[in-house]
Amino acid sequence: MSTAMPPRTSQQITQTVRQQYEHLPYPHRDPSLETTRLHLTSLDDLGALNQYCFKGQKNFSGARFLVAGCGTGDSAVYLAHQLRNIPARIVCIDLSAASLKIAKERVAARKLSHKVDWIHGSLLDLPSMQLEPFDYINCSGVLHHLPDPVQGLASLKQVLKPDGALGIMVYGQYGRTGVYQLQDLMRIITVHEADENNRLDLTKTMLRSLPDTNWYHRAQEIFEPILEMSDAETYDLFLHSQDRAYTVPQLYEWLATAQLTIAEYAMDSRAWYRPDIAFMQEPMASTVAQLPVPLQQAACELFWGSISKHSFWATAHSDTVARWDNEDYIPSWSHFGQLTDIRGNVLKSTDENWTLDVQKGDKGSRLELKIKNTPLHRAFIEQINGQRTIGDLCFGLASQFQLPPNEVAAQLGYVFNLFNLTDMLVLRHKSVPAAEY
Ligand SMILES: C[S@@+](CC[C@H](N)C(=O)[O-])C[C@H]1O[C@@H](n2cnc3c(N)ncnc32)[C@H](O)[C@@H]1O
Repeated sequence: MSTAMPPRTSQQITQTVRQQYEHLPYPHRDPSLETTRLHLTSLDDLGALNQYCFKGQKNFSGARFLVAGCGTGDSAVYLAHQLRNIPARIVCIDLSAASLKIAKERVAARKLSHKVDWIHGSLLDLPSMQLEPFDYINCSGVLHHLPDPVQGLASLKQVLKPDGALGIMVYGQYGRTGVYQLQDLMRIITVHEADENNRLDLTKTMLRSLPDTNWYHRAQEIFEPILEMSDAETYDLFLHSQDRAYTVPQLYEWLATAQLTIAEYAMDSRAWYRPDIAFMQEPMASTVAQLPVPLQQAACELFWGSISKHSFWATAHSDTVARWDNEDYIPSWSHFGQLTDIRGNVLKSTDENWTLDVQKGDKGSRLELKIKNTPLHRAFIEQINGQRTIGDLCFGLASQFQLPPNEVAAQLGYVFNLFNLTDMLVLRHKSVPAAEY
């Protein structure tokens, strides 16, 4: 017996998706609380975006941003907030008028309406809208809901500048194994139930009664706790009418249809695609290290089994990432790093090691990465001020600690790369003035 949906036309699919988001705008947000909390979206930190997609050489003055499928506005608000003192504009498009209304109210609550233009429509129609091309397009949690994600990606690529970047989130196949079993279950049970509220009630009752053997229940640490989910989240996860997921090889295949490739994964999951973190023991480490990068990442995905979302930046060119090996780059604390005061926290610590917590999912599997709390490492962290280059820091500290510069560069590179793994520290080229995001 199949639980697949009966065949529907593209228009019918789009119409059902639109209806869902008119009824339950996603994510659930209350504009009256806007000024009490800024929602950070990992793909949109401008410091990180600059390092990974523009070699740290982008001055965002005059840049054009698009949020495709903006929903209730998390990315729109976060981008507008960071761009508040920079002459740059954001266009937001969404199928759902109810979602756009909330997004607009949130941007207005921050007095940033002048930064954003709004379009009520489908991202598939963007190429015919005669818009100037964009430097950066965020499209998070949208393309996997389209009848044809290849067509959706092609539409975005057509309105992207040749050296522009896309920030994409689509679902991960293996991490959502339990979700898809529950979607099948709910399709069987709600087959004669058209009312969305009744479907939701049935789902919530079902979720509360899951046995320990259920695959979603087994993997629940990957997801938000069931009891804390809003109706919009519950519907989105278990009752969505159009939802597909990708494995890593499928991601690369899909991106290739638009001549794009992955520049880097977002900080909330980057560590989980890293073969040197997944496969530390020999002979696995050296065996995996010989594989092409996409296969290394595919191996990591199968190893952890918990990647339920792929969040990454895609570019048409492969050489877009600024790296520690060029001494003309300036390490600086990202917006995330500043808000969490990671610098202050590590300098306060008197422990033998600093522990960086890399967490996957909301409760999530955790990785603890350790860095020795030595005088050299402390001095490095202290002296990063968004103005000193890698060269300044390495030579200055080599002379202060009377150590060979190449040894200092190697040690500091190790420390930098760990903080960079979660985008606490990012790189920009010295030719680009510091911006206050
Ligand atoms: C799961 S929500 C994600 C919202 C937002 N991007 C976020 O991450 O918070 C998906 C959004 O995509 C919108 N959407 C779906 N198909 C679309 C299309 N073809 N064009 C524009 N928006 C679309 C929906 O209306 C909904 O607001």
